[in-house]
Amino acid sequence: MENFEFVSPTQFVFGRGAELTVGRKLAEQGAKHVLLHFGGGSAVKSGLIDRIVASLDAEGIAHTSLGGVRPNPEITLVREGVSLCKTEGIDWVLAVGGGSVIDSAKAIANGACIEEDVWELFETKRPNASVLPIAVVLTIPAAGSEASKNTVISNDELGMKSGYGNDFQRPKLAFMNPELTFTLPEYQTAAGLTDMYAHLLERFFDDVGAVPVTDNLNLSLMKTIRAEAPRVLTEPDNYDARANIMWAGMLCHQGYAGCGRHEDWATHGLEHELSALNPAITHGAGLAVMFPAWMEYVYAENPARFAFYGSEVFGLTPTGDIEADALSAIDETRAFFASLGMPTTLEELDVCEEDIEKMIPTLRANKGEAFGSFKKLTMDDARAIYRLAL
Ligand code: NZQ
Ligand code: ZN
Repeated sequence: MENFEFVSPTQFVFGRGAELTVGRKLAEQGAKHVLLHFGGGSAVKSGLIDRIVASLDAEGIAHTSLGGVRPNPEITLVREGVSLCKTEGIDWVLAVGGGSVIDSAKAIANGACIEEDVWELFETKRPNASVLPIAVVLTIPAAGSEASKNTVISNDELGMKSGYGNDFQRPKLAFMNPELTFTLPEYQTAAGLTDMYAHLLERFFDDVGAVPVTDNLNLSLMKTIRAEAPRVLTEPDNYDARANIMWAGMLCHQGYAGCGRHEDWATHGLEHELSALNPAITHGAGLAVMFPAWMEYVYAENPARFAFYGSEVFGLTPTGDIEADALSAIDETRAFFASLGMPTTLEELDVCEEDIEKMIPTLRANKGEAFGSFKKLTMDDARAIYRLAL
């Protein structure tokens, strides 16, 4: 078991009506003026923003609204938010939405407290302890940003999508009402399931041996997601299924599922280039295509790990041929993503052979010459994995 540091400062308010307590909980924390940050329309249409505004008003908390965050959030709106925070004297950032809104909020919360342009944090990755406190009302279980230390932001001008990790940007408060996810389009539910499952795969497959306390937690989350996935897809307003998935999405990415392991993250790196190439590509859909391709490319480093995963999660009976068992586990993974309605090839995402070279320079800028941990990958390996995914 490797050494690790782990902090998770988030207070969770989970269940029906959670969002109605936003004002009271923020008042308890001393919030005076919040930036109310949301997406392209779903939270306005559902009446959620009105309920949150009423909850803030009831406590006398001032608020300034900034909506319009797009999926694969972009730096321009982040800069607008930073400027609002500085001119309006904002002391909390309240994100209402999914990973995109929360990530945009995290970037704003950093930018509001520093002198330099916030994109520089994404370039230099320099530590920054000065961040406005963040609260979140989650509307889609997927990215796990409601408790994670990461933010991922696109810069269309540079054609990049880059991450920035910082424990100080972990949300202080997360309001999680599963009922808010009943309105999700099926595709977004499925992409969210894929993303959270991928967060477990990234942690399970690395160059560290067994870490049973972490691995068993991880495997139990994988099994839960597999079992609940058909329920949320066929019964979108099944509260218990939605609740299990919402809590799972947080547990998949807040950190516990990787403690004592190195983790890999090559596949997320490969996917982020797809979303940078075309911001219309949904993160989870890109992962559904890239993960099985990555698995096929690297499994020979440690087929026993794949065989173990296959027997634990998919109930595959060992055949005595570890290699065959590993390949069956990969087939099952692909079939699981396909069963959710996710794509299985880059072609389905309108990405072709000629696009591969366009993604390599930004992949190199984001990940360096060598990346991944289960198998150290070069840019040539990345090209080969993209080709396998075509
Ligand atoms: O913008 P609106 O109108 O709200 O619509 C959103 C958006 O179109 C819609 N939606 C959200 N909640 C809804 C809803 N529609 C109806 N009812 C609801 N209750 O869903 C669409 C997708 O939202 P988005 O926030 O983009 O989804 P997700 O949570 O999957 O976030 C994806 C982003 O998170 C990043 C991804 O790269 C991507 O940019 N990630 C962030 C991570 C982190 N911060 O730790 C880790 C992840 O690996 C990931 O990279
Ligand atoms: Zn992800």
